Amino acid sequence: MLACTYSSHNATPSITEQKIPVANTAVGQLLVKVHASAINPIDHVTHKGTHYFLFNFKWPRTFGFDFAGIVEEADDDQMFKKGDRVFGQIAGLPQRGTGTVANYIVVSKKYCVKIPENISFIQASAMPLVSITAFNALKLCGISTNSDTNKKTRVLVTGGAGGVGSQAIQMAKNIFNASFVVTTASSGKKETLCKTLGADMVIDYKTKKFEMELLCEGEDDKKFDAIVDCTGEAWKCIKLLKKGGGMCSITTGPTIEAMRIWLNGAGADPNDGAPSIAFGVQSFIENGCGGSLINYFAGGSGLQKACINQGASFHHLIGAPAENGVLNQIALYLKEGKLKPVIDKVFAFNDSADAIQYQKGGRCAGKVIIEIIKDP
Ligand SMILES: NC(=O)c1ccc[n+]([C@@H]2O[C@H](COP(=O)([O-])OP(=O)(O)OC[C@H]3O[C@@H](n4cnc5c(N)ncnc54)[C@H](OP(=O)(O)O)[C@@H]3O)[C@@H](O)[C@H]2O)c1
Repeated sequence: MLACTYSSHNATPSITEQKIPVANTAVGQLLVKVHASAINPIDHVTHKGTHYFLFNFKWPRTFGFDFAGIVEEADDDQMFKKGDRVFGQIAGLPQRGTGTVANYIVVSKKYCVKIPENISFIQASAMPLVSITAFNALKLCGISTNSDTNKKTRVLVTGGAGGVGSQAIQMAKNIFNASFVVTTASSGKKETLCKTLGADMVIDYKTKKFEMELLCEGEDDKKFDAIVDCTGEAWKCIKLLKKGGGMCSITTGPTIEAMRIWLNGAGADPNDGAPSIAFGVQSFIENGCGGSLINYFAGGSGLQKACINQGASFHHLIGAPAENGVLNQIALYLKEGKLKPVIDKVFAFNDSADAIQYQKGGRCAGKVIIEIIKDP
């Protein structure tokens, strides 16, 4: 098989031939011929080696969390069969044999969902990591998908033109039935994009301070029920939270709770192809002292306290739990047109290094896709 790999952290990515058995998938696994894959900011974080002391990786590591492709081999339980079009996000962090910028992957069935007929491989690959993250972040804020037209739900999403923000705006409006959605983005093309996705108000973050524009001391009904921070600006948002509201940051202040969920959950199960946790890490994180230290130095406890003082709650989300429950829901929303993939640029497999570099620039409107096999 061919994969876009790096031989050590920070090394230049290149397409290499990998001697990984692409047949004989175990029970519960699928062999998927990948047609398209997406690049996320977390690819750069893993490439730079941020998690090197937490896990034992199989080298060379491969880029990519998101995939869309066709089942080549399946086990006998009929949940999936050869020829099914599927998409998903792998378990944990990518390594040799599991990264999705490759022409084949072996993946646990629990991370795969059938692609709706109206959606292409490129569109499907743009969805898993960002849409699961956006959905879980909005839920952690405490708002619900149950339609209650009497309740006026106000949502703020920072960074609305990014991969996660562009899904969070659509979800807030079309799935969580928000009555008013505000976002931050630069003016021009990105402002227009956010409005098309459903934002009622877009604040140009380059010329205005959104926290000042939205500040309304004493007027609780003008504050927000839910705030999703995609830009590392959680501290600026605290005064904007309604009493009883919730904020979820995917960038600032990891809390020990979020870290434990990430490490113990789908994020790190070697049976699903994820790298194993390095010796001592789990016990340190489970340990009360270790937990308090992390909570303090990572900033999560400070944000939690500040939000509680405001009568609200703070949550942090690390690594979308990828099991197919949420993704099944996402597939349904795609089919119904409630969610649309937002794609900035598509690169050919041979140009994977350019795609990775382009995403790293941080200026994308939605997703950067690598087309592994060109659609006819
Ligand atoms: N914890 C998790 O589970 C999780 C999951 C996914 C992502 N993340 C993190 O969340 C962040 C967002 O991810 P993403 O995939 O959405 O990133 P992305 O697609 O790379 O975001 C790029 C977009 O963000 C906009 N932007 C940058 N700074 C901004 C600001 N201060 N205010 C408003 N817009 C701004 C840029 O617009 P301009 O070009 O106009 O600047 C660009 O359109 C990243 O840091 C990522 O690592 C965390």
